Amino acid sequence: MSLYINLRTVVVTILFYSSTLLTYITCTETNLQPNIVLIMADDLGIGDIGCYGNNTMRTPNIDNLAKDGVMLTHHIAAAPLCTPSRAAFMTGRYPIRSGMDNGYSVRVLVFTGSSGGLPENETTFAALLQKQGYATGIIGKWHLGVNCESRNDHCHHPLNHGFDFFYGTPLTNIHDCKPGEGSAILTNFQGRLRLINNTLMVGLLILFVMKWTGFTNLGWGIIVWLTVLCSLFFGAWYCVFGFMRVWNCLIMRNHDVVQQPSNGETLPTRMVEEALAFIERNQRKPFLLLMSFLHVHTPFFTTKAFIGKSKHGAYGDNVEEMDWHVGQIVNAIEKAGLANKTFIYFTSDHGGSLDSVGSNGEHDGGWNGIYRGKKGFAGWEGGIRVPGIFRWPGLLPSNEKIDVPTSLMDIYPTVVSLAGASLPQDRVIDGQDLMPLLKGDVQRSEHEFLFHYCGAALNAVRWHPKGSDTVWKAHFFTPKLEVGPCYRSEICGCHGQYVINHDPPLLFELSKDPSELNPLSPDTEPLFHEIQNQIQIGVEKHRKTLTSVPFQLAWNNVLWKPWLQPCCGTFPFCWCDKDSNVSITMRDPSQ
Ligand SMILES: *[C@@H]1O[C@H](CO)[C@@H](O)[C@H](O)[C@H]1NC(C)=O
Repeated sequence: MSLYINLRTVVVTILFYSSTLLTYITCTETNLQPNIVLIMADDLGIGDIGCYGNNTMRTPNIDNLAKDGVMLTHHIAAAPLCTPSRAAFMTGRYPIRSGMDNGYSVRVLVFTGSSGGLPENETTFAALLQKQGYATGIIGKWHLGVNCESRNDHCHHPLNHGFDFFYGTPLTNIHDCKPGEGSAILTNFQGRLRLINNTLMVGLLILFVMKWTGFTNLGWGIIVWLTVLCSLFFGAWYCVFGFMRVWNCLIMRNHDVVQQPSNGETLPTRMVEEALAFIERNQRKPFLLLMSFLHVHTPFFTTKAFIGKSKHGAYGDNVEEMDWHVGQIVNAIEKAGLANKTFIYFTSDHGGSLDSVGSNGEHDGGWNGIYRGKKGFAGWEGGIRVPGIFRWPGLLPSNEKIDVPTSLMDIYPTVVSLAGASLPQDRVIDGQDLMPLLKGDVQRSEHEFLFHYCGAALNAVRWHPKGSDTVWKAHFFTPKLEVGPCYRSEICGCHGQYVINHDPPLLFELSKDPSELNPLSPDTEPLFHEIQNQIQIGVEKHRKTLTSVPFQLAWNNVLWKPWLQPCCGTFPFCWCDKDSNVSITMRDPSQ
């Protein structure tokens, strides 16, 4: 009897271990938990890249990713601006769900010392991967907030959102970061203030002369008081503009500010070195690296090796440098023998900014190819259609193009599933797992509708009816781009004087007319009313899933609050450079 029991135990034990071993083998075979490298460019247009049809811009490294992988040609950002698009990317949800898009005219964070940002109750894919044992790093731009209530609470900081390593800027690259380029945020305001300031100074001088020569019997006391007031005014003026660079252009390593103001000239190179070091450090466990480039946002800090090398001025030089940096990262993965274990993705946070003009008057923005519109405007394709390239040798096909509508929000469920984690059940996730589509198991994604917001206003809807190849797009309003306040403006309002409303919505057959040039009418499209009805039903269903949340970018949240200002010294003296001894060794091998 006891022998029998022992035998049974032995058999059960053997069965248990062999099944465990089998699971282990099959899991390693299917490459569960690959490394995940997500590369995001800033403001890059879809028309700037070789494999998307640009024959004069040289982007061989990005093109190679496409050649060895899958290229999406109908890949859509959830918003046409950095902060909301990145919030959606990190959470897999439309930015209105987290309060990261709103009805005000400022639709991005503009200060490191403001209280808005990605709410703590949002769960990023990084947080889910971290729980699965991934080393999680983000290098470069964050732009999703820092603090809530005090200088170092770091409630919105990457390290409070699932990353265990951060090196980069909590805000973004802006004009203020390059001396002599003016202020991105306060340019208009700055001009006005300077005028007032100069007028006051001249007035004061005249007053002095008049008093001196006896032309006025105003008392010296009053004149002294006026001088003090003017000095205060001048002081405030100086503070706001003189300190903008110090306050907004800073580099953090994890929770510490290591350089303030940042040295933009060396920063992009340091970022790539940090990325290579991160890969090196973590090559023995699964890792997630989000490489969030400062390229190709203005102002440009292109290194000497690339200046004057492209056919497209300073902008082109910067794009080609970024491409080279992409190559550095891919090479490092290959050298470490991780190519077949690494899922690589390349995209841009939204469309190119057609209106950026450099200090030399040169066009400094990207090119959105055949698509109408630009950064800042969600309706037209140009603001939201972006590159989307995936490479995973062995698991994904190579040299494949897929043209069905997909979203940047899809990365969330895709990487969460690759890591073996499950999606949060207590909230709506708008993204769809891309793996079946990328592998070629299915021919279309689960997205039937995609909703395009301008702030909190629903601007347009994309409809890919089930069982059909056609994609329709309806615009509830379009921006007034040709005249008025939106003309040559990067960011413009979403209602009132800024837009033209359409009732019935302006309808395009996007699959046939990707440039959105021929609006349909009941005369040209027999199903016109039926299509509009179906879209309306889709919108109503979507609206029912929305809940009201605090607006993270409301005025009181985007204002600069001195007590929230990240500072490496004693506020307001925030100067430091603890990062200057980093070696700058990278050079273009072709030089
Ligand atoms: C390539 O990109 C440049 C820079 O954005 C642009 O000026 C040019 O028109 C593009 N070329 C094509 C063929 O798309």
